[in-house]
Amino acid sequence: MAERKGGTKLKLGVLISGRGSNLQALIDASANPDYPAEIALVVSNVPNAKGLERCRQPNIATAVIDHKDFDDRESFEAELDKTLRASGVGLVCLAGFMRLLTDTFVNRWHDRLINIHPSLLPAFKGINVHERAVEAGVRIAGCTVHYVRPAMDDGPIIVQAAVPVHPDDDADTLAARVLTHEHRIYPLVVSLIAEGRVRVASERVLIDDVHSSEETLINPIDRR
Ligand code: GAR
Repeated sequence: MAERKGGTKLKLGVLISGRGSNLQALIDASANPDYPAEIALVVSNVPNAKGLERCRQPNIATAVIDHKDFDDRESFEAELDKTLRASGVGLVCLAGFMRLLTDTFVNRWHDRLINIHPSLLPAFKGINVHERAVEAGVRIAGCTVHYVRPAMDDGPIIVQAAVPVHPDDDADTLAARVLTHEHRIYPLVVSLIAEGRVRVASERVLIDDVHSSEETLINPIDRR
């Protein structure tokens, strides 16, 4: 399991495909000298991903590994794996990385590979999550950080955040509300892992020394 050794910071490899706002949340968190993790490398499979620009000013190492340059998934992932290892990465964080990973890669990084997904898993796996949540009429939506297992958007759940869905929400307004909470829970999860407080037992996550929220989110409420 990924955690830092002897006071050194846990080295993160962050995988992106686009905008990189969750990457930015990790960059901002790791700017604090007390944060227990540091970004060793950002890898994008999309050459002009906006997220890569976020690495310039803080001087974070980047690599582009374009899946289109490879004959098959296996060779693409072999290069990805080699690059992450060469940077001494201890924890891989998928942050809007829009490629499915094969069982080989996922198993190689077992319990050292996490993902953020913009729904309360196991509801709404896959894409177009917010459209589907609005369409389904759910009253509460949210986001999940989980360890990655071979099936899509599957694996032991580490932290979730829940938000209300408002009657006038569309996919964009809901996505924006959920995203602000993604930016809170991703750095939180990384710090819990880096501090060695997260364990997986029988495919459920146990976290040392945390408190459950006492707040119940009921939506809607009747104020009349
Ligand atoms: C985020 O909302 C993330 O949860 C989602 O992609 C977005 C990336 O935004 N990931 C998935 O849907 C993975 N299944 P970002 O590039 O601004 O972090």
